Amino acid sequence: MNGRSSVLKLLAPKLARCDPRSMRVDTRTIDELIAAHKPGYALEQRFYTDPAVYELELERVVYRNWILAGHVSELPAKGDFKRFDVARESAIIVRGEDGALRAFANVCRHRGSRVCLEERGTARKFVCPYHGWMYGLDGHLTAARDMPADFDPLAFGLHPVSLEVVHGLILVSFSDSPPAVDNCRKDLAEPMAMFGFEALKVAAHKTYAIPANWKLAIENYQECYHCATAHPDYARMHSLMLDRKKRPRVQDAMKERFAACGLKDIYVNFLDTAARPGEIGYGYSRSAMFDGYVTGSKDGKPVAPLLGKLADYDGGASDISFGAFSFLLAYSDHVVAYVFTPVDHRNCRCDIYWLVRGDADEGEDYDVETLTWLWNVTTEADKTIVVNNYEGVQSRYYEPGPFADMENNERAWTEWFLQELLRPT
Ligand code: FES
Ligand SMILES: [Fe+2]
Repeated sequence: MNGRSSVLKLLAPKLARCDPRSMRVDTRTIDELIAAHKPGYALEQRFYTDPAVYELELERVVYRNWILAGHVSELPAKGDFKRFDVARESAIIVRGEDGALRAFANVCRHRGSRVCLEERGTARKFVCPYHGWMYGLDGHLTAARDMPADFDPLAFGLHPVSLEVVHGLILVSFSDSPPAVDNCRKDLAEPMAMFGFEALKVAAHKTYAIPANWKLAIENYQECYHCATAHPDYARMHSLMLDRKKRPRVQDAMKERFAACGLKDIYVNFLDTAARPGEIGYGYSRSAMFDGYVTGSKDGKPVAPLLGKLADYDGGASDISFGAFSFLLAYSDHVVAYVFTPVDHRNCRCDIYWLVRGDADEGEDYDVETLTWLWNVTTEADKTIVVNNYEGVQSRYYEPGPFADMENNERAWTEWFLQELLRPT
């Protein structure tokens, strides 16, 4: 026996215990899976692959939290509507006769058909395509053919879905008792006002279909550990790709420009707000771009008029988060909003909205291709790495690995996700 084989012999029992291939059929319960999570490590495989875990997370994480569904400028007139689909749920968001925005479950009260099949439009009423029941803009049933004499249409209006408008952003939750948004609205009022969020408009909207479990897409968005390797265009302009030790110089230089540009130094820690029970988590921070880049564009030059009351470019970009699915990046001249939602346990979507000031004219003040270039190429690259990630986590060789320092947000999101999963419905 040579020295190498004796070492292998010594190690063999330990390796066998650790080898994930020896656990091909994982019979642990979901509670046991959660208990097995090692803090500071990625999630166990079944969080990404098990339909039973997915069913639980739909109820406890996805449907009962707030998700960004768009901006008020998309529905300016009475009767303007858009559909908002998340996993198996679908809502109709509509501006009523009274000018208020409301959301309704897109489920007919007769036999359950989807009522609204279009993505968006303008309507005076919604007519179910199956048997023709008609609903008003306030969700009430206004007509149903040949029903018995004792049929009470008032009892068969569309079910309301929770909706809040926060600084021009439309948030929707498929829960009747969603987290409170009052503190979020109050604490983010000042930073959101800097960019004139209520007066923005959607200049472009694109949906990216990602054939991967939804959590991998969100985890990927939360960390910039991958930026240097996966996003050369993003990395040459954003200091977030640097580790913490190298960032203060560019951060301090940006902060010195704040006052002249009409910005304030504001920081709201998502982890603090997310820890409050019964409330939406939210956060705000601004990060510097490298010299020569004033906004997120191919050449670093402006792509649209300055937002809100900003007087100049400070060379920064603000990360703003609303809950666990919606992330916004506010440059000085445009905002990019990301929404990640599951389609099923193997597929998700990323919706990106590019927003500019409401009085900007396309062709004159901005060009959609120039405006969307950076985050389109970045998101296409993200899609590829997330799909690669998903293929790997399904392997028998997958086991959760440790997070790097630059993955702290992802780590925090993972812990929040597990807490939500444990919180009874
Ligand atoms: S299912 Fe809608 S009218 Fe019958
Ligand atoms: Fe990325």
